Amino acid sequence: MMWRMRRRSRTICLSLAFISIFLHLLLALVSLSTYQQPCDTPLPPRTHILRDLARTNYTSAGIRSPAETPNDAMKRDSSYEEAKNETKGHMLTLSDKGLPVKGSKIDSVNMAGSSGRYGSRAKTLESDLLKLEALFDHPLYKILGPPIPQEDWLLKVKPKVKASEKSSQMWVSASQEGYEDVQWNSSSSSHPPWLRFHLGISRWQLYSHCDPNVEALTQQLATQRVVSAVQKSGGTQLKLVMSFPDYGQAMFKPMKQERDEETNYNLYYFSDFERHNAEIAAFHLDRILGYRRIPPVVGRLVDVVKEIKDITTDRKLAQTFFTSPVGNVCFYGQCSYYCSTEHAVCGRPRGLEASLAVMLPDLSLASRRSWRSPWRRSYSRSKLAKWETEADYCSTVKKTPPYDKGTRLVDFMDMVILDFLMSNMDRHHYETFEKFGNDTFLLHLDNGRAFGRHSKDERSILAPLEQCCRIRRSTWLRLRLLSLPQYRISDVLRASLSRDTLHKIAPLLAEPHLAALDRRLKTVLETVSRCQKQHRGDGEEVIYNDMAYSKDMVEQPHTAFV
Ligand SMILES: *[C@@H]1O[C@H](CO)[C@@H](O)[C@H](O)[C@H]1NC(C)=O
Ligand SMILES: *[C@@H]1O[C@H](CO)[C@@H](O)[C@H](O)[C@H]1NC(C)=O
Ligand SMILES: *[C@@H]1O[C@H](CO)[C@@H](O)[C@H](O)[C@H]1NC(C)=O
Ligand SMILES: *[C@@H]1O[C@H](CO)[C@@H](O)[C@H](O)[C@H]1NC(C)=O
Repeated sequence: MMWRMRRRSRTICLSLAFISIFLHLLLALVSLSTYQQPCDTPLPPRTHILRDLARTNYTSAGIRSPAETPNDAMKRDSSYEEAKNETKGHMLTLSDKGLPVKGSKIDSVNMAGSSGRYGSRAKTLESDLLKLEALFDHPLYKILGPPIPQEDWLLKVKPKVKASEKSSQMWVSASQEGYEDVQWNSSSSSHPPWLRFHLGISRWQLYSHCDPNVEALTQQLATQRVVSAVQKSGGTQLKLVMSFPDYGQAMFKPMKQERDEETNYNLYYFSDFERHNAEIAAFHLDRILGYRRIPPVVGRLVDVVKEIKDITTDRKLAQTFFTSPVGNVCFYGQCSYYCSTEHAVCGRPRGLEASLAVMLPDLSLASRRSWRSPWRRSYSRSKLAKWETEADYCSTVKKTPPYDKGTRLVDFMDMVILDFLMSNMDRHHYETFEKFGNDTFLLHLDNGRAFGRHSKDERSILAPLEQCCRIRRSTWLRLRLLSLPQYRISDVLRASLSRDTLHKIAPLLAEPHLAALDRRLKTVLETVSRCQKQHRGDGEEVIYNDMAYSKDMVEQPHTAFV
């Protein structure tokens, strides 16, 4: 019996691997061109908005003081119209006639958004959703990069590999055990969302800004039937790999901590729990920041009996199930920390909240390189790291490959900003896709230790930015946008998270965590301001202009669209 089970699970694994490889090879080439999103088509250049955003002085008093802030600029922008519309709705109750007095509008949005005194909770959420929509409609999110050349897609067919009959035989033998019969062909509309996601990964992002497939993908992760669940080996905490009938797979991390619980102050960051809601919120935040470097993650209420215990072929996992004294079904699996009866995860009585993250392409198809962070913490209770003691640490890093060339340093700063905002102290390594060499984006994987504390801002996470004083122009502009009341970062993240299925049970981030985001964003912008003061007279020193291409487009609009 046991032997048969093991054999069965091996067969499934093998078939899955073959299928995955075969599919990628077969479909990658033919479908590449179909993944260009409508969003990527050129928009009429509107960079005056960007210019104005860049010129505006950021003051710690907030956005209220400089009277002709981006206000003027945005009047010409459709997203601003929407924000205005939304403001009007709220203003009715405030008996403001909506007269276009400079600055006053912004103040009123402020009041409407924060207090909730003037509307129900649902209305506030509705207004947050409008803000999110306006944000994603903003030209800063639709910056047009150069067209993506063939070699900048992650997956591509090697010409000498043919989709042979041998492969199609493998297919047939694998379409059983609860999996769907596969009927995919070269037409991209027949591909499952996970495959579209893999085929859409390019040198600079995991998915494009308005890729409709992200919606389809998250929808599926949240609802599809689970066909198999086995432990993921490696790592310090319990993780499962779940498979779906369309051969998609996702990484499962269970809920371990209540939303409003703060991490114990006496715990070192490296022994903190991983939180399922942090994984989910990190994906949403990364998208809001315009990075798109975290694979989609959704929340899901998993039935630990029906969707794990009953279907798992993982004997070691199955052995760790038990029923708690109050009748909840629990399990703990096997891992190097927190995998014991004392740290079991339990359903209530069977439903367990979890995060499901879509898997990246298998390492055999797209290998990844792991990089040690130059600002890695010492991971010791007594030692300090070099960056904590050497004042001039950054100038050394700046001279060291790969940080000496290209965008690696500013990409690293993007990651630092994300980590500071969500207070993730655990970024000791990061990964890139090997195929793209040193010129590529950084994957922001493993965010489970973020959002642990809201009452403290961990300034040391921001040390790289403080020491190097370098930031991408596009990032900086988006951060400024997110500090404006009509796009406030806490509001848009609240809105974005409300679309997750777990929101029905409880908001994924407690309000104090959202409030911390506003505070921390202010700190980031102040840090950049301080840098600019230090480097006065040398603007290029602090702001790395990554928008040269879109500027060209404005200056020669005719040649750019041929
Ligand atoms: C920014 O503010 C400073 C004073 O704080 C002022 O001297 C400078 O002219 C302002 N710059 C712009 C572009 O408004
Ligand atoms: C603003 O609202 C009006 C109706 O209240 C609508 O007709 C108009 O299309 C809206 N504008 C935008 C940009 O959403
Ligand atoms: C692909 O399969 C679908 C049905 O699954 C069919 O409608 C479509 O015509 C096929 N496309 C090609 C190019 O074979
Ligand atoms: C990429 O970075 C590594 C440092 O890890 C360096 O040795 C290598 O020369 C870099 N490659 C290029 C093409 O710059």
